[in-house]
Amino acid sequence: MRTWGMIATWRMAIEGVTLGSEMLKNGEKCQDVLEKAVMFVEDYPFYKSVGYGGLPNEECEVELDAAFMDGKTLSIGAVASIKDFKNPISIARKLSADRYNIFLVGAGAESYAHKNGFVRQNMLTERARKTWELRVKEIKEKNLSPYDGHDTVCMIAIDQEKDMAVATSTSGLFMKKKGRVGDSPVSGSGFYVDNEIGGAAATGLGEDIMKGCLSYEVVQRMKKGETPQEAAQGAVDEFSKELIKRRGKAGEISIVALNNKGDWGIGTNVEFTFCAATPTEQPKVYIAKLVDGKVNIEITSEEYMRAYKEKIQREI
Ligand code: GLY
Repeated sequence: MRTWGMIATWRMAIEGVTLGSEMLKNGEKCQDVLEKAVMFVEDYPFYKSVGYGGLPNEECEVELDAAFMDGKTLSIGAVASIKDFKNPISIARKLSADRYNIFLVGAGAESYAHKNGFVRQNMLTERARKTWELRVKEIKEKNLSPYDGHDTVCMIAIDQEKDMAVATSTSGLFMKKKGRVGDSPVSGSGFYVDNEIGGAAATGLGEDIMKGCLSYEVVQRMKKGETPQEAAQGAVDEFSKELIKRRGKAGEISIVALNNKGDWGIGTNVEFTFCAATPTEQPKVYIAKLVDGKVNIEITSEEYMRAYKEKIQREI
């Protein structure tokens, strides 16, 4: 039987997954599907942790990270701390075709994007600037830690020819230091995919995800025969415990996984929304909650979706 499938992190991915699932159904390639679907998220100004409208660093600059990996060739392309370009995912995908210089940062990434004709855009929205100003005030008044928010959009797809790819894009940690890079553009930590096994991608506190190379870990668990659900939840549970044992606390970590049969699963140590679609499952937003240490997955209600839409567009 011909199959296809797609899974992505967070509620913000649903429009991209809906678009992507139509493309996969029509026989389009997973690489094109993921680039288009992630571009949708990057372009939408109300998603505040990815692309245009993403929240800035401590100097009020939007620095973006993105990566692309092809599961057939294991080709990887990535950019980090890139400013003023509309679609970092497209730049990462283009880099994945190269033999050398596949991971570019800052001014070097911007120079490459300029030379290759990628669209320039000021990525700081008025809304993101206001959010930054409020946060600066709050940090001063309440003596808060500056760091907050780090939702990456991660998408994994398998197409009808059984090829797989993964893509990630994020503005990273809100109020991060200039030049800070999280897990999202780092192979093995923020993403990994291999046509012969499957793929995984992570969202959450990059500083902790990188300590466990968690996306590679999930793919290796699937190689040993675990289902995507067993692999993703097992890796998050074990590594969160390890972090608590050694460091006293574990950051928020969530992982999506898809194997090369089109089965999906997730792992998380917090409440987490994600989107998935297969030939037998319409594109939907799911919510994973931890109940007595076990993960419980449900389809989100219409009321939840309405409240989410209202919240992200609320006046600041
Ligand atoms: N997981 C995204 C980041 O930490 O930047």
